[in-house]
Amino acid sequence: MKKTCFIFDLDGVLVDTAKFHFIAWQNLAMTLDIDFTETKNEQLKGVSRIQSLEKILAWGNKCISADTFKQLLTKKNEHYLRYVKGMTTKDILPGVMPVLNFLKEKECPMALGSSSKNAQTILNKIELTNYFKVIVDGNSVTKAKPNPEVFIKAAQLLNCLNSQCVVFEDSIAGIQAANTANMQSIGIGSAEILNEAHFVFPSFEEIKIPFIQSLMN
Ligand code: BG6
Ligand code: MG
Repeated sequence: MKKTCFIFDLDGVLVDTAKFHFIAWQNLAMTLDIDFTETKNEQLKGVSRIQSLEKILAWGNKCISADTFKQLLTKKNEHYLRYVKGMTTKDILPGVMPVLNFLKEKECPMALGSSSKNAQTILNKIELTNYFKVIVDGNSVTKAKPNPEVFIKAAQLLNCLNSQCVVFEDSIAGIQAANTANMQSIGIGSAEILNEAHFVFPSFEEIKIPFIQSLMN
């Protein structure tokens, strides 16, 4: 029997960059005089940079030129990267390392499945690159979550069947992507928000090794 494969989202799962994305989008929305709340931000989690800006503009009923759109994307990313610059291994969320180390020790195939084009930069900063046999990020997919492309690609590269994959996600879009791909979805965050996930934990700290073992073949 093939081994269970584990696919991890990055932002909001391994590191708390979700808060940096929020600050950068909120700042941009403010300059455009668009109301942007934490509730709205939930809808941007897991969503690509381009689609996030499209959503914000739609919420504010704003129409802008293609050039301005591009400039705003750059501005948001520059702001975001100012926070990323200071990241170190200390930014890995509590509870993540015991799980990664356990899976590594058991030689379970692991992949990163992120919508971010900054994923590799962040993985290098937090020194986790070597844990992942496969990295699928915003540069390697054409369709953003909730489309399952990112996870299906990760499974293929891991040489794993979709049904043998477990996905850790903090976003509604990511949970839907995993479910559509016929993978087990583990939500990290609010059970109310991530109500389509197969299992939900408030944070990685609550995920204990016996639970991980129960997912393994
Ligand atoms: C996802 C985040 O992981 O990546 C989204 O949840 C973000 O909030 C998306 O918009 C794209 O990230 P980046 O780093 O390419 O702007
Ligand atoms: Mg995420």
